[in-house]
Amino acid sequence: MKHLLSAEDLGRDEAIAILDTAEQMSLLGDRSVKKLPTLRGRTVVNLFYEDSTRTRTSFELAAKRLSADVVNFSARGSSVSKGESLKDTALTLEAMGSDAVVIRHPASGAPHRLSSWIRGSVVNAGDGTHEHPTQALLDAFTMRRRLGRVNDLSVTIVGDVLHSRVARSNVRLLHTLGAGVTLVAPPTLLPVGVETWPAEISYDLDAVLPKSDVVMMLRVQAERMNAAFFPTEREYSRRYGLDADRMAMLPDHALVMHPGPMVRGMEIASEVADSVRSTVVEQVANGVSVRMAVLYLLLGGSPE
Ligand code: NCD
Repeated sequence: MKHLLSAEDLGRDEAIAILDTAEQMSLLGDRSVKKLPTLRGRTVVNLFYEDSTRTRTSFELAAKRLSADVVNFSARGSSVSKGESLKDTALTLEAMGSDAVVIRHPASGAPHRLSSWIRGSVVNAGDGTHEHPTQALLDAFTMRRRLGRVNDLSVTIVGDVLHSRVARSNVRLLHTLGAGVTLVAPPTLLPVGVETWPAEISYDLDAVLPKSDVVMMLRVQAERMNAAFFPTEREYSRRYGLDADRMAMLPDHALVMHPGPMVRGMEIASEVADSVRSTVVEQVANGVSVRMAVLYLLLGGSPE
């Protein structure tokens, strides 16, 4: 594996090798010295053209725990604001000796283009509404840890599927790993062609909750919307939000997941976000282990 651009690129064995390696990496998090010398002398550039809290800091920590040198580049405050292109920016960073570029970009397909311009590895940290493969990997890792497997789980993904790269990557990876996925959203927030995805579609959240092992709530991505996709926030929340009454319809073992950032009171009630079923904080912790595994495997490690 040279790049990680899409969850679609991952076969079952490859995905499981990443999850197993992440399991090893997570042991490090329990030690007082949380560092391995594996990537000493290698340079990882975080190239972020979009805002991010979790993903950027998580990749930074992951690279540092493997002893790589890390350069954090954000488009704001750089020559990007002077009109420099992605290609020129990337070639500049490569000239300084970067071995891997972790990129988040508002344009779907940007990481793919980048991989044809530079010699090093490219990791997609979210491109437009397209994919976010490390998020899907950390979500699968969290499910496997909590429920013992991913195969045969019923996973319900709820909300703004249209704008969600998290949903796209999760549908693909979960399908590869043998889970059954149901998407629940208002018809206006489902993408054209969704019927060709390996997932069921439902418009009735209450009907699918009792059959779900995992329910994954998505944020309504207002910043990507240029029109009204639903009548009011109250109406959205009433039909597609997860509150305590709805959560009570889940089986006892079921998990509530959210990739963050959460809009409390909109897609998820505070009492649900903070409940014992919620894995939101665990997902963040697991993200570091999964990204360590990805960087390790891409930059020359073998999964033993
Ligand atoms: C998401 C993203 O940026 O795609 N967050 C994340 O990476 N954890 C989802 C979102 O912005 O709602």
